[in-house]
Amino acid sequence: MFKKLQSKWAVSPLQLVLVLITFAVGGSLSGVIARAIMSQFNISSKLIYLPLYLFVVTLAWPICVLSVSIFTGQFSFFRKYLVKLGVKFRLISPIRAIDPSGTVNIAVFASGAGSNAQKIIDHFRHHPTIKVALIVCNKPQAGVLTIAGNENIPALLIEKETFFRGNAYVPQLQDFDISFIVLAGFLWKIPDALIKAFPNAIINIHPALLPKFGGKGMYGMNVHQAVIEAREKESGITIHYVNNHYDEGEVIFQATCSIDDTDTAETLAAKIHQLEHQNFPAVIENLLKQR
Ligand code: GAR
Repeated sequence: MFKKLQSKWAVSPLQLVLVLITFAVGGSLSGVIARAIMSQFNISSKLIYLPLYLFVVTLAWPICVLSVSIFTGQFSFFRKYLVKLGVKFRLISPIRAIDPSGTVNIAVFASGAGSNAQKIIDHFRHHPTIKVALIVCNKPQAGVLTIAGNENIPALLIEKETFFRGNAYVPQLQDFDISFIVLAGFLWKIPDALIKAFPNAIINIHPALLPKFGGKGMYGMNVHQAVIEAREKESGITIHYVNNHYDEGEVIFQATCSIDDTDTAETLAAKIHQLEHQNFPAVIENLLKQR
């Protein structure tokens, strides 16, 4: 059990002891304080006393634990721990759960070559407050994993069962203090659990002008092929929030490019990639600044 806790919290054996001491002392202290506060009121009914007592303990507990952690040298651990609890119980929006240095940590989800992921990484490489902290990928052979390796960015390879029917990797994202998710060519639908854990904090880039050419099966070359076959005169990119329906979240940004008679799905794909690379990183930065 101790080994499990040690790896879950990523702490050394000594730190684990200090953390457990902090939990024990902080917990007892909050009980003492709650009893002292309750004694100020003359409540005889147990039915009222007990829930009220539990309420006061719950309020006192984080303050006590944080205070004790200063003496045990574990303040930074408990600050992070309480922020995670706050996000879990929806008391804090993930976007505000920034890490202690004040940095907004982004996770980039991608399934393919990762040219957009590379541009985003390049853009934020020296940024003072925004950092690409994690690459999330569902394909072991995807180019984006090589990019993550070259850039020394941790990568999380995910599998269907946990993503769609398990915890959707929310705890792992919280471990990396992720507060914003960018889908850059990620081809799986985002499950409800993830959308709920990151409300208004997941965006996607789509290689066409939504609402046209969106929905299930509409990704990458399929989109460009459909646009060419429909003899459209222009196409473009759409950056939008992610909700429970494919490509239907609120639009944040669109940019267009013209289609010539000589264009094929391949040449259109190249034009669209150029538009994406030019605009996506800057749109992400503006969005995070506004928040
Ligand atoms: C991008 O064109 C992106 O718009 C598209 O996948 C490509 C990924 O390229 N996304 C979708 O089609 C989502 N429906 P990249 O791996 O080179 O960044």
